[in-house]
Amino acid sequence: MSDETLLSLAGVRRSFDSGRIVALDGVDLSIRSGESVALVGRSGSGKSCLVAIATGLDRPDSGAVFWQGRAISSRREWAALRRKSIGIVFQEFHLLPTLSAQQNVELALMGGRTGQAEQRRAAAAALERVGLAHRRDNLPSEMSGGERQRVAIARALVRDPLILFADEPTGNLDSANAEKVAALLLDLQRERGVSLVMVTHDAELAERCQRIVRLSDGRIVEDCRVRGDAA
Ligand SMILES: Nc1ncnc2c1ncn2[C@@H]1O[C@H](COP(=O)(O)OP(=O)(O)OP(=O)(O)O)[C@@H](O)[C@H]1O
Ligand SMILES: [Mg+2]
Repeated sequence: MSDETLLSLAGVRRSFDSGRIVALDGVDLSIRSGESVALVGRSGSGKSCLVAIATGLDRPDSGAVFWQGRAISSRREWAALRRKSIGIVFQEFHLLPTLSAQQNVELALMGGRTGQAEQRRAAAAALERVGLAHRRDNLPSEMSGGERQRVAIARALVRDPLILFADEPTGNLDSANAEKVAALLLDLQRERGVSLVMVTHDAELAERCQRIVRLSDGRIVEDCRVRGDAA
């Protein structure tokens, strides 16, 4: 892990219903290159809102998000960042049902500069990394929840992001599959030096990250280091 700050939020506020619901209430948070961060807090505390704003899928009412020190605001800048540098994994997988695992992963590379043969190769390599080389031609409906989530991780991974956000990636999985997915995400963080920001309700899983950030009523109420660089 380096000291370089990749992504930071400064004074981020987000409300709904003309201000009646305050989801984020002045959040300051910096994510360093290569670190693993668990984002925890009760249901409704603002975790998903924070992920949406940190990935540019939603905009704050006030405050700003910085990427490597530069404020990001336009739709175009955000799209470019999500294409190149930011991967996102959701609880519900969000795979396209009519496409095979291989095609779902390839789709993440379309529209970029990668040629078709290279897209195919990169998608196959990403699926192999998540242990699904043998399931490349299967549809999501033919796979278990854990396998689907691993396809979604391969899809996030295939563009070689610098930071990976995962919003309750194990929330829909049984304990055996949850463990596989959690171990995979933490391995990827270590082996590729990618930053991992993982929302979780699982205290044990949170303890396996290097840092725990706790939200309560839209504010950060705790930010502690669990373990050092040796993690
Ligand atoms: N589109 C929306 N319209 C109105 N209120 C919203 C909207 N999105 C989120 N909220 C509210 O903002 C607050 C924070 O929601 P958020 O989804 O970030 O919580 P969370 O911490 O992710 O909860 P969970 O653990 O249940 O996923 C909640 O009170 C929620 O009801
Ligand atoms: Mg949520």
